[in-house]
Amino acid sequence: MALRNSETAFGWMAKGFHWLTALAIAAMFVIAWRMDALPIGLAKLQAYGWHKSIGLTILVVTALRLLWRLVNPQPPFLGNSRWQGRASTAAHWLLYACLIALPVLGWLMSAAANTPVNLFGLVVLPNPIAPDRELAHLFEEAHETLAYGLLGLVALHAAAALKHHLVDRDATLRRMLTLLPLFVLIGAATAGAAPSEEMPPWRADPAKSRIAFTFTQLGAPIEGVFESYDVDIQFNPEGPAGEVRVVIDTDSIDTGDDDRDDQARGDDFFAVAYFPQAVFEAHEIRRVASGYEAVGALTLKGSTKSIVLPFTLEIDGGTARAEGMLVVNRQDFAIGTGEWATNLAVGDEVTIAISVTATRTYEPVVAGEAAVQKP
Ligand code: HEM
Ligand code: HEM
Repeated sequence: MALRNSETAFGWMAKGFHWLTALAIAAMFVIAWRMDALPIGLAKLQAYGWHKSIGLTILVVTALRLLWRLVNPQPPFLGNSRWQGRASTAAHWLLYACLIALPVLGWLMSAAANTPVNLFGLVVLPNPIAPDRELAHLFEEAHETLAYGLLGLVALHAAAALKHHLVDRDATLRRMLTLLPLFVLIGAATAGAAPSEEMPPWRADPAKSRIAFTFTQLGAPIEGVFESYDVDIQFNPEGPAGEVRVVIDTDSIDTGDDDRDDQARGDDFFAVAYFPQAVFEAHEIRRVASGYEAVGALTLKGSTKSIVLPFTLEIDGGTARAEGMLVVNRQDFAIGTGEWATNLAVGDEVTIAISVTATRTYEPVVAGEAAVQKP
């Protein structure tokens, strides 16, 4: 098959441009809907990154495609209806206009929202305009309206192509067809199934993960654990960037003594009937000399305090082990009221130790996201 168009047929370059763009547009909608649905976090940010990078690539590819069109003959419209010929030409130019205007609007929207585009994580593009909230909103509306306009136009366009093929039985669709997109799809599916070295997902091993605490009772150290908790980690050690959310069921406290556990569940201590969960949430993970720090807040018995959880991370092949420890003052969270308020029997300082062992999995979860559950 020829590279260039002839007077009657599209060459493989024009076909390649057409079908690769069509695949990229389909991917853009899938990513757009996904990034909208994802909760705020690293995975959402990454989806935005892909949307913007692929979108701007479509802009560049469209410019090259139009140049290619300029220096190639154009196979004529097949059919006898003049209005259909004109409608076809108009639809094609409208499609080209969308392929240019959408990425440009997207880029302007991002710049106005003060979010520079990092193209595939390789180069940060300069903002074409200064930040402006109102403009950002305007561009967002225009981008969304045009995106759904394009969707409608593509539906009409594909329906017309099928009509040519099935009703008029002419060569319109056949002369545009190529096996290329099939190869791309197979390639993408293979790449998707292959392990990604860049941002491997991690899944914690409940049997090797532990949330423990140590306090003193009558001067003697006592260790306890929480048996039931959820840990959600989105983390890229190279970044570093990420989020951690640990939700602990306070009812699951186990200090090795039933009477003491019952007392700990009572109103003077964890008041589990009113505060069944303790939550640690960190939205920033930063690198420090000794390892990393998760900067966030601990909510316990209705009080929220900012805390920084230092942790170390060891990655050995397919296994990652994170260990963190911090000391909190139980008085900050009103743990131990009434006769327990003084530190005569129970010390004020409580050391919390978190250890999570996670293994690399290639299950189809969002890259960089690991959900850890302990029953
Ligand atoms: C041909 C290319 C593009 C297509 C087809 C496309 C399509 C879409 C769609 C369908 C949405 C969701 C609209 C909604 O339902 O709210 C969206 C949102 C968005 N797009 Fe694009 N887009 C393209 C290019 C770009 C580019 C190049 C950028 C930035 C450089 C961009 C930035 C965004 C952003 C930031 C949003 C989210 C807006 C919000 O917060 O609601 N897009 N896009
Ligand atoms: C996002 C999706 C799509 C976009 C943006 C798009 C865009 C375009 C454009 C701009 C042209 C004009 C090419 C030129 O002559 O310069 C074209 C041609 C064509 N498209 Fe698409 N297209 C899409 C999807 C489809 C689909 C799904 C089909 C088939 C079901 C299709 C079938 C055709 C055919 C047969 C032609 C050649 C028309 C002719 O010979 O006059 N396209 N497309």
